[in-house]
Amino acid sequence: MQEDKRFLWWHTAVIYQIYPRSYQDSNGDGVGDLHGILQRLDYLQWLGINTVWLSPIYPSPMADFGYDISDYTGIHPLFGSLDDFDKLLDEVHARGMKLILDFVPNHTSDKHPWFLESRSSRTNPKRDWYIWEDAGPDGAVPNNWLSVFGGSGWEWDETTRQYYYHGFLKEQPDLNWRNPEVQEAMFDAMRFWLDKGVDGFRVDVIWHMIKDKELRDNPVNPDYQPHLPTYDQLLPVYSTDQPEVHHIIRKMRAVLDEYDERLMIGEIYLPIQKLMLYYGEDNKEAHLPFNFLLIDLPWDAQKIAAAIDQYEGALPAGGWPNWVLGNHDRPRIASRVGIQQARVAAMLLLTLRGTPTLYYGDEAGMRDVPIPFDEVQDPQGLNMPDKNLSRDPARTPMQWSSDTNAGFTEGTPWLRLDKAYPRENVEKQQAGDLYSMLFFYKRLIAFRQKEPSLLTGSYRPVYADTQAMAYIRQEENQPAFLIILNLSHRPCYFTSKTPLSGVIDIATSPESEGQRVNERISLSGDEGIIVRLD
Ligand code: GLC
Repeated sequence: MQEDKRFLWWHTAVIYQIYPRSYQDSNGDGVGDLHGILQRLDYLQWLGINTVWLSPIYPSPMADFGYDISDYTGIHPLFGSLDDFDKLLDEVHARGMKLILDFVPNHTSDKHPWFLESRSSRTNPKRDWYIWEDAGPDGAVPNNWLSVFGGSGWEWDETTRQYYYHGFLKEQPDLNWRNPEVQEAMFDAMRFWLDKGVDGFRVDVIWHMIKDKELRDNPVNPDYQPHLPTYDQLLPVYSTDQPEVHHIIRKMRAVLDEYDERLMIGEIYLPIQKLMLYYGEDNKEAHLPFNFLLIDLPWDAQKIAAAIDQYEGALPAGGWPNWVLGNHDRPRIASRVGIQQARVAAMLLLTLRGTPTLYYGDEAGMRDVPIPFDEVQDPQGLNMPDKNLSRDPARTPMQWSSDTNAGFTEGTPWLRLDKAYPRENVEKQQAGDLYSMLFFYKRLIAFRQKEPSLLTGSYRPVYADTQAMAYIRQEENQPAFLIILNLSHRPCYFTSKTPLSGVIDIATSPESEGQRVNERISLSGDEGIIVRLD
């Protein structure tokens, strides 16, 4: 595509999330590392990825596998050194790719020196860096706020006889972002990486960063069902998504704006209308508030089509859309909708308007892997054992080849691999099967990157029923594409209200490619097509 100044690099990026523990081990300790990622950059380039997001690689006691940071400006020795990081960043850039880091500002590890100081005495200068409160009558917790990972959000500290607040594990105390010193310290941590040339951040749980000043009780959720996480018993209206959070995000964004074209993504699980506020007034907050509609919605053509319209309609002027199909916190797409529908899902992700984010391994059709009870590692799974909430199944090592441990490690992998890896892996798909999931992803990515209509064109909904949905993407003076997706397993019909004709450029079933179609189109079950309209 010709360079178009209306669009910055991240508008046209395809983002690929790497969970570093599970991508590629290079030193036989069973845990993936930076050098391993370096070895796989050629693969990512082959696939057509231009932006890599790394889940946390900082020093951490690993209570939440790196989302509990004890040093914001270092690299965990498990992953390598700062030199390894610099090398990786150089190599990413040498390939014309971008690298974004995970930034976790809401909480630190309880082993972070700031927290160790803060908890040492009530008069310590860092006491107010965290959220400390007196006990209520009879030693009661200060309010009813719950931890996302189960139980109360308050932990009693015997030394200083107060509670501290943790929205996640007790090993992840929440910072007090109302304190200007906290803000400055964290902004400096951001600058440390931006100075190195990092291209942006995915900011962890950004909507949690500020809590109600008066610590009011959260109301009961009237729709709670016992199979849901205990956290959902209450509506977190006072512990998250406070109006003041937007001042903080604006300031974070201003730090990024001290540099050239750096990207801020915000992790936000909120309904569409609230999500939109995170673009900020004049789009001065997150460039991309993560849009998890495709993760959260049931796999239903009508519901998804309606949600896309709602999202498109709610975007602020100048706000750029984005779509996410999977991540390290949610079941993999192939396990959620089945392997056949995962192809349709890939077509959806890569033909919608806005920046797509892929989760490592999904491109090779990786599934959730059953982890025996006594091997569960994820604290969310361990803390609520009866609810099947462990995130381990979606975090298993990348299936590279049929070699021992799928070529992931020469040691013992930290989490077991899918037993099917000898059959289902990258190398096999690359070598033989042009119709494999991997080639399908590669072709979709290449097609998207070469067709301005898909990359930056408008989105126009055409049709949706209980089985299928259809939409048109078109950039000015460019061929239009009609995308029809059958989200069901049964054959379906699409009848256009207006005459049309075109050729199928890409289809989930290769036999359809090259066929001419008109206004009456029949699709096989699990089929999706991209039609280049005449
Ligand atoms: C985010 C991360 C998740 C982590 C949590 C606490 O939701 O994606 O993995 O456990 O924040 O940091």
